[in-house]
Amino acid sequence: MFNIPAKRKNTNCYKWDNCPNTIPFGVADSDYKVPLAVRLALHKRIAQGAFGYCIKSPTYDATLKNWIKNNYDYDVMPEQISVSPGTVFAMNAILSVFTKPGDKVIIQEPVYTAFPLLLKNNQNTEEFSDLIFDGKRFSIDFDDLDRKLDGAKAFVFCSPHNPVGRTWTESEVKKVVLLCKKHNVLLISDEIHCDLMLFGSKFTSVGKYFDLYKNLIVCNAPSKTFNLAGFFTSNIIFNDIELKKAYDEKINSMFCAEPGLMGPIAAETVYTKCGVWMRRQNKHIEKNYLYLKKYLAQYLPKAVVTEMESTYLAFIDMRYLGKTDEELGAELVKYGVSVNGGKMYGRNYDGWVRFNLACPISQLKKGLKRFVDCCVFLEE
Ligand SMILES: Cc1ncc(COP(=O)(O)O)c(C=O)c1O
Repeated sequence: MFNIPAKRKNTNCYKWDNCPNTIPFGVADSDYKVPLAVRLALHKRIAQGAFGYCIKSPTYDATLKNWIKNNYDYDVMPEQISVSPGTVFAMNAILSVFTKPGDKVIIQEPVYTAFPLLLKNNQNTEEFSDLIFDGKRFSIDFDDLDRKLDGAKAFVFCSPHNPVGRTWTESEVKKVVLLCKKHNVLLISDEIHCDLMLFGSKFTSVGKYFDLYKNLIVCNAPSKTFNLAGFFTSNIIFNDIELKKAYDEKINSMFCAEPGLMGPIAAETVYTKCGVWMRRQNKHIEKNYLYLKKYLAQYLPKAVVTEMESTYLAFIDMRYLGKTDEELGAELVKYGVSVNGGKMYGRNYDGWVRFNLACPISQLKKGLKRFVDCCVFLEE
C-alpha cells in the first residue's frame, strides 16, 4: 500500500502543484493513500449529505485518551483536551495568551520553519539554544539551555524533532521538563511527529511528567502520521486546567473553538483502527531511509546523512558542494527534483537539505537518481 502512489498533481496539492516539473521531496506530507478505514469513514459521512456546523463527538476525548495511554503510557482527562484547527495555529494562540511582546521565548535551531515565525508574530524576543551536531546526530546542549531558560517565559520544544529526526530519550525529555520547572518556564511541546517512530526508538511525551511540573502543554495531531494535514485538526493537551480555560477563551474569541467536520472523523478512525497501518508505515520509512543512505554513500560519499530515529524527513549536510540553498535548488529543478533547503530551519543551515521519505520506493529511486546526477555534475 505504501508503494502505490496517490494521484496528487493537479489536486491543488501544496507539495506537488507548487513545484511543477519536479518530483517534490519538500513539504512534509505523504504520497500514498491514507488508510482505507479513513476513506470509508469519510465516504460514509459524505453520504449523509448535510455538512453544517459541528460540535465535538462525545467519543472523541475517550478515543484520544486510549490512543495516548496505549501508545505513550500517560493519562489525560477530557477536561485537559482542546481540539484545534492545526498545531501551528494552536501554538500561535498559546503564545499570544501566555506571553507578552518582548518576553523571551526559547527555540532550538535547526527547527521547523514555523517556530521563529510564531515568536515574530507575538513580538517575543527570540533566544536560540541551538542543537549540537557531532557529525552523526544532533543533541541538546543542556548547559546552554539551562542558562538561556533563566528569565525566559516559554520554551517551544520540538519532540520528536523536525528536521533532525531525533526521538528525545526519556532522560532527555525529563531533563527538559525539570529545567523548565527550575526556571518556571512554560513548556510547549510540539509532538506532531510522535507516532513516526523508527528503528525501535521509543517516544516519551512531556505528558509523562504532568505530575512533576504544572506548566506543560502537549500539541499533537494525526496529520503527519496519517497524512491528514489538510483537515487542520490537532489536539492541545493542557496539564493545568486554568491554562486551558484561558486558551479556550482566546480561540473562542477567534471563532475557532468548534472542530471542523471531517478532521475529527478521520482522527477518531485512525486512533481506533489504524495502529497496524502506522507501524507498517514506519517500517516502510525505515526501508526508504536505508535506501537513501546506501545510495548516497555509494554516489555522494561526502554527503552527511543525519541518523534518523523518527519522522519521515532526512536531514542531509550537502555543504561540501559549496552551494547556497538557492543555487542548489535552482540546479536541482533543472534535473526535475526539489527538496527543502536547510536555511528554512536555521541560521547556520544554508547548504543542508531536508528530504521527505514518505513516498513509494519507486518515486524515491527516481528522485534520488535525479538528485545525485545533479550533485555529481556540481562536484565536477
Ligand atoms: C514540528 C511540526 N509542527 C507543526 C507542523 C504543522 O502542523 P499543523 O499543520 O497542525 O499546523 C509541522 C509540519 O510539518 C511540523 O513539522
